[in-house]
Amino acid sequence: MKNKEQTKEIERLVYNYFSSKKIIEFYSRPRLHTTEGKIIGKFFKKRGKILDVCCGAARASIALGKRGFKVYGVDINKILIKKGIENIKKEKINNVKCILMNAKDMEFKKESFDYVVIFENSLEHIPKKVNRFLIFKKAYTSLKKGGIMIVTFHPFLYPPIFLRAIFFNFMDKLRRKLKFGDILFYNKIYYHIFPSWEKILLIKMFKFKFFRIFPHNVLYTRNNKIPYRKFYMMLFPFIYQYWVLRK
Ligand SMILES: C[S@@+](CC[C@H](N)C(=O)[O-])C[C@H]1O[C@@H](n2cnc3c(N)ncnc32)[C@H](O)[C@@H]1O
Repeated sequence: MKNKEQTKEIERLVYNYFSSKKIIEFYSRPRLHTTEGKIIGKFFKKRGKILDVCCGAARASIALGKRGFKVYGVDINKILIKKGIENIKKEKINNVKCILMNAKDMEFKKESFDYVVIFENSLEHIPKKVNRFLIFKKAYTSLKKGGIMIVTFHPFLYPPIFLRAIFFNFMDKLRRKLKFGDILFYNKIYYHIFPSWEKILLIKMFKFKFFRIFPHNVLYTRNNKIPYRKFYMMLFPFIYQYWVLRK
């Protein structure tokens, strides 16, 4: 299978996966996860403009809109965006917009957002490094100087994914052609589990002034105090990690 065909095939799988009834239901309920809420509370101090990349059905966009932010959400999936627009209407808010768009094609005005969020490890569903880097670059460009970006990633050693990668990745032609860190579960959903060096490369390339990594479950256990760690957090197999970056 050629490279381009493989990418298309993976994009089709990802699209179909996020179009299933169960998934739409899961991503439709407007709310922030506890950890998202805590991190937003700590780092998004003024009520500015947020870009929600791969927003799905506006789960987080609407919740952030209700907290007084102006939010633009972008997603490639027609069904999710339609659901998001319905939910925005239901909630009767006018400060949240959902836009049907491939994140690779985002063309927002340079430095026009105070914050960018890429929640629920969405970058991991984008096939090919060049595409993931392009999305990251576009998000970075649209962020104001001093603005904050929050991206979530699974740690590379997250056991369920790591083990499955070992057992499942050699089964058919599509899988055998995958790159390091790429995983295809049951021919249904694609993940790229960023090796630590790929994350560091992203952050160094764009010269972020500051970064912190927060593991999901530590945040859960300690009320409002948010402990943070730096590099070595990458080695811990927690559920997933919040990377908070300042431009
Ligand atoms: C795990 S879901 C997260 C949804 C949302 N961020 C949330 O937290 O509720 C991943 C989302 O990424 C979207 N997605 C995948 N590839 C995309 C692309 N190239 N451009 C924009 N969105 C994309 C999917 O359609 C899906 O809605």
